[in-house]
Amino acid sequence: MITINTNYTKLKASYLFSDIARRVADFTKAHPHKSIIRLGIGDVTRALPDACIQAFHGAVDEMARDATFRGYGPEQGYDFLREKIAAGDFQSRGVDIAADEIFVSDGSKCDTGNIQELFALDAAIAVPDPVYPVYVDTNVMAGRTGVNENDRYSGLCYLESTEQNGFVPDLPCEPVDLVYLCFPNNPTGATATREQLAAWVAWAHEHRALLLFDAAYERFIRDPAIPHSIYEIEGAREVAVEFRSFSKTAGFTGARCAFTVVPRNCRAFTPGGAAQMLHPLWLRRQSTKFNGVSYPVQRAAAAVYSPQGQAQVDGLVDGYLENARIIREKMCNLGFACTGGDNSPYIWINTRQDSWAFFDMLLDKAGVVCTPGAGFGRCGQGYIRISAFNSRDNVEQAMERISDALA
Ligand code: MLT
Repeated sequence: MITINTNYTKLKASYLFSDIARRVADFTKAHPHKSIIRLGIGDVTRALPDACIQAFHGAVDEMARDATFRGYGPEQGYDFLREKIAAGDFQSRGVDIAADEIFVSDGSKCDTGNIQELFALDAAIAVPDPVYPVYVDTNVMAGRTGVNENDRYSGLCYLESTEQNGFVPDLPCEPVDLVYLCFPNNPTGATATREQLAAWVAWAHEHRALLLFDAAYERFIRDPAIPHSIYEIEGAREVAVEFRSFSKTAGFTGARCAFTVVPRNCRAFTPGGAAQMLHPLWLRRQSTKFNGVSYPVQRAAAAVYSPQGQAQVDGLVDGYLENARIIREKMCNLGFACTGGDNSPYIWINTRQDSWAFFDMLLDKAGVVCTPGAGFGRCGQGYIRISAFNSRDNVEQAMERISDALA
């Protein structure tokens, strides 16, 4: 008899964004003439930068000729891309990361979900609350938790991110081996200071723990005092893995390209307590279970680092940040306390009422889709997240409709 992995039965029936998509589809079916503006899932709406498109086309043409055709590529990514990432995203900021410490992938969702395979099943895990659901659900699937009661899985340590701590969680006060951090944060849009990140790095050293640092939104940072990478903090190479993505910055949500940084000296431990480097384990995992990102997509991603690519990506990010500014200003003027939107494409809004009720009200009265904060965890109850990823016209129209709905 083939039995299932019963850990799957502990999961909520569907993934948050699938659940929202279903509710919106039901609403559209019931109100076929109502126009809907989507500011829910963080999916970009602007086309790929022209520099990327040119490189993409060129690489597709290479695939059309025997002489330049490429078959399987290196599982960890082509050197031409890894070298550009190391130089452009790290060395240019004085951060010591080399090309062979970069693993190109098809998304940070996959990498943040897959990385937990490297760790013991009895590893004690801490996640922020509210949290990007992938960190939690993948640990549930792996069997690191008990059941979900009152929106929390037993066996997980939840680090509360609230207005009181500026949405940057305090260090754990119980024993923890692995901590997920995300800055600029999804969903709250909050950022962490150099001092706060340094405290996490020192804590990880002291407790022989590991930080999984999701920096998918780093390109939205405008405040020069805020670190873009955990490796800007001294000592972080030994205790942190970092995740980055081209999705939100260069518009690759459909094209798929991201990368994970595993420094050569980043360690976990054997059951006997000896240091074990993670780089060879992740390489082994990726070369066994992953066949790399397609050649044209990697060429398109490499074009992000050309002067034209950089200017075009800045243009995209500036456009989304201006949307974020408009959303935040409008929601503040309507009397709501807001976080994020200044160094992040997400605005986290305290609605002072049930998140899902506010979501339903916005959908029904304004035809605007947001993300209910409660979907990100217990501390998200009462909040909604509005995403800046849409056209200027749609964002302006959505904010008009929200004001009218709340009038
Ligand atoms: C979000 O809306 O939180 C993101 O789009 C989810 C993701 O990147 O997978």
